[in-house]
Amino acid sequence: MDDIGDLPRFELTRLDAPGAADDGADVVAGLGAPRKSLPCRYFYDARGSELFERICATPEYYPTRTERAILEACAGDIAEATGAAELVELGSGSARKTRLLLEAYSARAPEVHFAPIDVSGDMLVESARELIAHYDDLTIRGIAGTYEDALAALHPAPDDRRMFLFLGSTIGNFTDDERGAFLARIRAAMAPGDFFLLGFDRVKDAGILHAAYNDAEGATAAFNRNILAHLNARFHGDFRPGRFRHVALWNGYESRIEIYLESDRAQAARLDDLDLDASFEAGERIHTEISRKFEPDALAAELARLGFARRAEWTDACGWFSLMLFGRGEAA
Ligand code: AVJ
Repeated sequence: MDDIGDLPRFELTRLDAPGAADDGADVVAGLGAPRKSLPCRYFYDARGSELFERICATPEYYPTRTERAILEACAGDIAEATGAAELVELGSGSARKTRLLLEAYSARAPEVHFAPIDVSGDMLVESARELIAHYDDLTIRGIAGTYEDALAALHPAPDDRRMFLFLGSTIGNFTDDERGAFLARIRAAMAPGDFFLLGFDRVKDAGILHAAYNDAEGATAAFNRNILAHLNARFHGDFRPGRFRHVALWNGYESRIEIYLESDRAQAARLDDLDLDASFEAGERIHTEISRKFEPDALAAELARLGFARRAEWTDACGWFSLMLFGRGEAA
């Protein structure tokens, strides 16, 4: 455990970096497959995080601002529904939206405990610095590591109960299998009386969904292409991002947005550090992301099979986004 000397009320546990997961083997596998793909985690280098902020500011991309609006309106009700609880956030990032919850809990209890989990230890320190300066009744115990490792390493429960948070509709970026495995791990980490708050994007009009991933100013296109610039920097490559078109389609059968980079000509690219040569036909696609949208009842039924019990749901005036609260139920 690091002690960040100048930061009171903050502890950070750094779990060993998962070496094997960061050696590019996933890039080699993805670009070597007959239908090429890239893991969406490569979106988020410094530039990619900036571009995601730009996406959130476009008029078309509603999820982030809609979730924030729900939290602004309902954080007090959420705190009321769970009572005092330690907030354990998975993938906290800058924890900006989480502040709304921290404030609501702080209004109800003399002390608030926050346990953010993120792969980036630096991000945890940075956001803890701001939070600690802002709130004097807040104690933070951050864990830097994968969700899997961090959930296994959670410190013993404090006196109060816990609420696990997974916001931002990141649940939509998993495949069905990945989602099931992820939710099962959370369920296994929950003690009786604990809660789980899940933020997800809902199925809606196809035109609205399509526009959200094809914004007019091209922020999403730039974000998508940046994955190639990131690979160039990370693995010494010569991809030309400008020669790939951004494609984002609503697949109604699978209930998801599918995002691709489409080669605008026959071309080749090389990643030196991985000794990888990839060639593309004109029109060939690299699959970069899925963003699954959910029907609330179907998602609640899926969680019920995994041992969660739906307790409450908050949504916006248009019913576009949901925050669903679960307790422990019986596993089927
Ligand atoms: C941050 C992963 C939830 O799926 O909507 C936005 C990422 N990709 N535009 C999403 C994203 C393209 C976003 N998540």
